[in-house]
Amino acid sequence: MRKLIVGNWKMNPQSEAEAVRLARTEDKEGVVIVPPFPFLGAVKKVLKHASLGAQDVFFEKKGAYTGEVSPIMLKKLGVTYAIVGHSERRRLGESDEMIAKKVKASTDAGLKVILCVGESKRESGIKNKELGNAKRYLRKQLEMDLRSIHNSRFLIHNSLIVAYEPIWAIGTGKNASPDDAAEMAGFLRQFLDSRFQIHDFKVLYGGSTNPRNAESFLGKKEIAGLLVGGASINKKEFGEMIKIGKSA
Ligand code: PGA
Repeated sequence: MRKLIVGNWKMNPQSEAEAVRLARTEDKEGVVIVPPFPFLGAVKKVLKHASLGAQDVFFEKKGAYTGEVSPIMLKKLGVTYAIVGHSERRRLGESDEMIAKKVKASTDAGLKVILCVGESKRESGIKNKELGNAKRYLRKQLEMDLRSIHNSRFLIHNSLIVAYEPIWAIGTGKNASPDDAAEMAGFLRQFLDSRFQIHDFKVLYGGSTNPRNAESFLGKKEIAGLLVGGASINKKEFGEMIKIGKSA
């Protein structure tokens, strides 16, 4: 089955012309391109196969919120996915309470949410204990981030994607092992099912993925795709990852 390859460009590239050039090369089925806000409109115009995503979203529909962008604005622009709760935003002060509101507002507006969760540090020691601590952390995070939804009745079909992104693996070159990522993905599935009755969702892995390790993650049945940062602004590397996603 084709896997989902999401390219989060973060605060890159520096001009609309470069963004459009990059989008043209990455415009393939099974891909979600996530450019910075100012380039969304121009990128949307050139996409024929890929979907468009936004790196963040606000939780109110309109009003006196300087600097914010509403889910409805994004939806009208042709955006399909919104990343919510990326660790780089949490680090700047975004709270779980805000994230819960963003999840609800986005799904209400018909956007698909890519909710990012992940433990901040790698505990050293026995593997089972490390993963046990990470699971405890994720459980707490999801309790808070999904409290606005309660259960799958509030979700439109397939509108939630959870990205397991251990923070220590983001942009560091140190990825989680594919076995650990698959175990965490399985855990997420089990937890959302039993706690929130959410069954219909994908789990992605993110954190230092590249063409060399993509296949080992995408080969796992628990992992439905990748959330790619750094490698997504490298045409050659991302192109190779798209090909791997297609045949995985
Ligand atoms: P990375 O970023 O691929 O550069 O580690 C992943 C992410 O931030 O989603």
